[in-house]
Amino acid sequence: MQNKYMDEIRKLKQERDAIILAHNYQVPEVQDIADVVGDSYALSKHAANTDNKVIVFCGVHFMAESAKILSPDKTVLLPAKDAGCPMAEMVTAEGLREMKAKYPEAAVVCYVNSSAEVKAESDICCTSSNAIKVVRSVKQKQVLFVPDENLGSYVAEKVPEKEILLWKGFCITHKRVRPQEVMKIRELHPAAKILVHPECQPEVQKLADFLGSTSEIIKYAGSIPEKDIIIGTEEGVMHILKKQNPEKNFYLLSTGLICPNMKKTRVEDVYQSLLHMQHQIDVQEETRLKALRSLEEMLKIS
Ligand code: 13P
Ligand code: SF4
Repeated sequence: MQNKYMDEIRKLKQERDAIILAHNYQVPEVQDIADVVGDSYALSKHAANTDNKVIVFCGVHFMAESAKILSPDKTVLLPAKDAGCPMAEMVTAEGLREMKAKYPEAAVVCYVNSSAEVKAESDICCTSSNAIKVVRSVKQKQVLFVPDENLGSYVAEKVPEKEILLWKGFCITHKRVRPQEVMKIRELHPAAKILVHPECQPEVQKLADFLGSTSEIIKYAGSIPEKDIIIGTEEGVMHILKKQNPEKNFYLLSTGLICPNMKKTRVEDVYQSLLHMQHQIDVQEETRLKALRSLEEMLKIS
């Protein structure tokens, strides 16, 4: 793909000593100009380990914020200023403190789709690719899982030895998928495998053949012999799936699987971001240090 901003972006990247990270849900053009494309976990690892001075984070706010928490000496830029995550806004530090007061014995496991303040109130973070491992790793039997109720119920089923208390947050995009859609598409493509993200509702999860994070879905789709594959996560993953598996047919489980916030970043925004060094992410130092502990606990175990 040739875009009029590509050469400029390449030049600016060198001048600024920048790396471009993009989530799997970004538009194809943005994925194509990125140095690394991945799921939340892979990108946070890159953010923690990169030597570049500037990180341009093509994703949503909590992802860029996590990069800043992990790499405070770097300049972290979010090209689309108002790209937020509604799920991350469904839990506040104050609300979480109230819940902690009710369950003082519980370990707090927080999905990275949350603010720095919420991470700071938590014991350990997780992503959708390591949530099971993280919950198993805490020593307490009781676990307060925030903010995604659907990912939390998936974990609760896989880790029955823990008592998991769920926060009532959800992803507005994945929650849209209805079980009827799964049944209908199964009828249309009886030989196909259905791969679903655990942010979908439990009723949808139960009807799937495979559950996993975006990277796990991509890996699994490439590893199975089936030619027809139905994808139950945000449509951005279709780009890499089609590129890596040109002989396979991919179908999106639901037309609702589009995250408006993930689609806010355009190649032009990445160019403007590098040109004007905008929009810089900052985290207050006391909060950062506490949130860092939760993220580091996660990185230690997975
Ligand atoms: P993963 O990258 O962990 O699959 O998360 C999906 C998501 O919704 C990110 O916003
Ligand atoms: Fe948030 Fe869902 Fe969009 Fe991910 S896909 S950024 S969880 S709204």
